[in-house]
Amino acid sequence: MAEPFIDLKRTDYCGSLNAQDVGRKVTVLGWVHSRRDLGGMIFVDLRDREGLLQVAFSPAIVSNEFLDRAKALRSEYVIAVRGKVLHRPEGMVNTDMSTGEVELEAEELYILNESETPPFEVAGKIETSEGNKLKYRFLELRRPEVQKAFLLRHKLYQATRNFLAANGFIEIETPFLTKSTPEGARDYVVPSRIEPGSFYALPQSPQLFKQILMVSGFDRYFQIVKCFRDEDLRADRQPEFTQIDMELSFIDEEDIYIILEEMMKSLFKEVLSVEVETPFPRLSYKESMDRFGVDNPDTRFGLELTDLSSALKSSEFKVFSDALEKGGAIKALTLKEGASFSRKDLDGLTEVARTYGAGGLVWIRVNPDGWQSPVKKFLSDEEKKKIEKITGAKNSDLILIVADPSFNTACASLGNVRLHLIKKLGLKPSQKFKFVWINKFPLLEYCEEEKRWVAVHHPFTSPITQDTAYLDKDPGKVSARAYDLVLNGTEIGGGSIRIHLQDLQAKIFDLLGIGKQEADAKFGFLLEALRFGAPPHGGLALGLDRLVMLMTGAASIRDIIAFPKTAKASCLMSGAPSPIDEKQKKELHICSLKQHTE
Ligand code: AMO
Ligand code: AMP
Repeated sequence: MAEPFIDLKRTDYCGSLNAQDVGRKVTVLGWVHSRRDLGGMIFVDLRDREGLLQVAFSPAIVSNEFLDRAKALRSEYVIAVRGKVLHRPEGMVNTDMSTGEVELEAEELYILNESETPPFEVAGKIETSEGNKLKYRFLELRRPEVQKAFLLRHKLYQATRNFLAANGFIEIETPFLTKSTPEGARDYVVPSRIEPGSFYALPQSPQLFKQILMVSGFDRYFQIVKCFRDEDLRADRQPEFTQIDMELSFIDEEDIYIILEEMMKSLFKEVLSVEVETPFPRLSYKESMDRFGVDNPDTRFGLELTDLSSALKSSEFKVFSDALEKGGAIKALTLKEGASFSRKDLDGLTEVARTYGAGGLVWIRVNPDGWQSPVKKFLSDEEKKKIEKITGAKNSDLILIVADPSFNTACASLGNVRLHLIKKLGLKPSQKFKFVWINKFPLLEYCEEEKRWVAVHHPFTSPITQDTAYLDKDPGKVSARAYDLVLNGTEIGGGSIRIHLQDLQAKIFDLLGIGKQEADAKFGFLLEALRFGAPPHGGLALGLDRLVMLMTGAASIRDIIAFPKTAKASCLMSGAPSPIDEKQKKELHICSLKQHTE
């Protein structure tokens, strides 16, 4: 039975006691992690936020009443123990525990609360479904290794605030009940009670507000802020996530690069004691696609793509010649010692390439007695020589080739084969953390479905000055003053230098097919602000959750969010989203087209 209220104050955290405390009388409070009954002696591992402490209940020391209580203890009971810190006996020291040199010799024991048998063990290996873990997230969050990630996350908030404040950034909050922001995902909306039929949108980012703060003269702004996006979820995406959002006035790309590099150096040092090398390498979008096949390259691994377009421009193989005639490319990937790959392995790789849009995958085994390949008969000796030279392939290597009328598809499909191989072969990265900037993204891309140009980043991103001449003639050729920060193959941040001049903004809206009326309705308040002395400005937002994920080595973004959502955007613990009652709907002037089904 749990005791009525006991006036016991903690003197120490369990996990903070060590050999220096030997001889002290202490009071510790926490959860029963595990209990062992060894013929009279009872040992309990007691857990609190700071760690585990072994508590020994000896019949020679504690009264029968306390001993009986110790016998009744079960996992996850909440208890208070008073006792004396002792050295563990010779041979019993546990070097795996920070408190492994000591134990607490219990004198008094109070049960503050009991616990039902938990649906899975908090101590030891969890053997339960993902759904159960999320439903009982409060129990999973008790696990020491899970708590460790949140301690790191906490340190990251503090280090971020310290760095940015020291560099002249001011923290300002922007509204959550607002208008749609143009980040390209679907909005979460909130109905207005006071204005029937009107809705707020939860911000996909504070983009428009932070630009307005620059017009207001704050010069350097930041915010650690929740963003909401109703999009398909993946291992590195949540419907609500946190950004470290920043905006600066009177700056250009170089200033952004320097500040972010300094910031990463500082955060990694403070949080992980890791020295980050600066400056970070920079790759244009085109170069990134060309060499790695993706715009978020993991540059810790070699295995770079090569380009066979020049070597095969007069190829007899129709797939190759067609691709080039249509303005595409022939890309190759060389795998050292890969000639031993079986047909089944090669079919698997072909499947990966197809998933990313390739029509197929040509393979060449470079054997000592000659090449083996389905397209061998189409290749002249001269072409073979050129291929060997460009790919650097030697005996026993494997060459993989994709040809496609679209340069991007040729690169992307082989780029994903590269990622697949890195994983499948368990290749070792050259270093633990590797950053790279990707810049010079295209400003616009043509959307076949909507038959119009759309902004690749967002419509307020400035074109590269030298490219503005192409805005009328060839909009697809214009590069943006946008940049992404990539860490170990994950995009951890993105931003741009913005358009601060009204006539250029009007031109871009024109190109995007956004009429004056639509522009005014959607972001008239930003356009209004730009008319009253907007300084040149730009910024960036970091995905804080992704950064924590990489810093902790977590496999999923869910592990480092206290109360995450499932792939269906629901919270299994609270049961959100859930139907609301008719009265509430009436008040909000809404009705549902579909009834909720369990
Ligand atoms: P962007 O849309 O690139 O830019 O977002 C910035 C960073 O936020 C992270 N991120 C996400 N993290 C988890 N779950 C998601 N669903 C998710 N979506 C994005 C990524 C990404 O790099 N307003 C602009 C920034 C700017 O221009 O200043 C913006 O939001 O790490
Ligand atoms: P096929 O002409 O379809 O019999 O294909 C002959 C070989 O070329 C097969 O190994 C295909 O996987 C490969 N192949 C087909 N399309 C492409 C492509 N776009 N790029 C590279 N290889 C391809």
